[in-house]
Amino acid sequence: MVRQITTKLADWYRRSNQQLPWRGIRDPYAIWLSEVMLQQTRVSTVIGYWNRFIDKYPDAQSLAAAGLDEVLEMWAGLGYYSRGRNLHQAAKMIVTDHGGQFPRDPEQVRKLPGIGEYTTAAICSIAFGESLAVVDGNVERVLCRYLGIDGDPRRADARQRIRQAANEALDRDHPGDHNQAMMDLGRSICTSRSPDCHRCPLATGCVARASGEPTRWPQPRPKRPTEQQWWASAVVIQDQQVLIWSSDGELLGGHRGPPLVKLTGPGVDAEQLASAQLELLGIESPVLLGHADRFRHAITYRKLEIYPLLYRWSGDLPEGVSTIPIDRGDRLPALHRKSIAAARELLLEVHR
Ligand code: ADE
Repeated sequence: MVRQITTKLADWYRRSNQQLPWRGIRDPYAIWLSEVMLQQTRVSTVIGYWNRFIDKYPDAQSLAAAGLDEVLEMWAGLGYYSRGRNLHQAAKMIVTDHGGQFPRDPEQVRKLPGIGEYTTAAICSIAFGESLAVVDGNVERVLCRYLGIDGDPRRADARQRIRQAANEALDRDHPGDHNQAMMDLGRSICTSRSPDCHRCPLATGCVARASGEPTRWPQPRPKRPTEQQWWASAVVIQDQQVLIWSSDGELLGGHRGPPLVKLTGPGVDAEQLASAQLELLGIESPVLLGHADRFRHAITYRKLEIYPLLYRWSGDLPEGVSTIPIDRGDRLPALHRKSIAAARELLLEVHR
């Protein structure tokens, strides 16, 4: 039954012809980059990042030769930063272990950091025409609805049915186009909350559509409960520069930015804890200029409230500290950017 998908989907894909800058490209490096960026990030956000990355790092060699800090700066705003770190690490492996050529063998591709089963199938089907079916969240939704697959798609029984259906539906003559068509359909028509069944090429034969209640599938995944947390951000300035450190902490590990300190409640002991943290980092007796406006920020399941504190300090920079102009916080992850922007506002007030 699921075989009926193939032709209708191919016709729809040709007609819908979604314009994405990586469409029609066969370069596995460029496709890899798009697929990593598209994990957990909307297409509209990815387009600008992909264009900038391809301009700056047109191949694995140039990406591998760049510093991690610079790559993460380019990644700033895309979130899920382990993807950026893995990307850089994988580029180095491509250079050292594969002579700079993106590997063709799916088993080798799968071994690169940050590449799982789904990304392997996407890259190898699109770039090399390998008969591997992609199952991402969009494809899972389309198949659960079309076939009326019950149960939590994360559990083994439903997962196996979905995987089997994806393999059966795969157009083995055009696996890359087929996979992209499935993902496009899930993203643009068979959406989670408001599927547009009238425009769907698979409406005939779809169990969910026939039921009159298409959003009953897939069964919702249990969500990790959100956790409220409070953090202080210690923004230390020297002239018009902000001091930044590489963090290995719970939030934004691996990134440079002002130090973050976890609080036990809203604003609790923010000053004492931030000053103590700065002391530990070799910033002795900084002058507290004040509390900037607190703001909210979400990182995956964490709901954060951030209390930025603005300090001035004039000593020699300890080892490992670098600086960034106070008006260039946009090079850092969004949380740090917001802290620095709030601190800058306060600084302007102090000087008024
Ligand atoms: N989502 C992730 N990768 C995709 C691709 N290649 N085409 C469409 N949607 C996607």
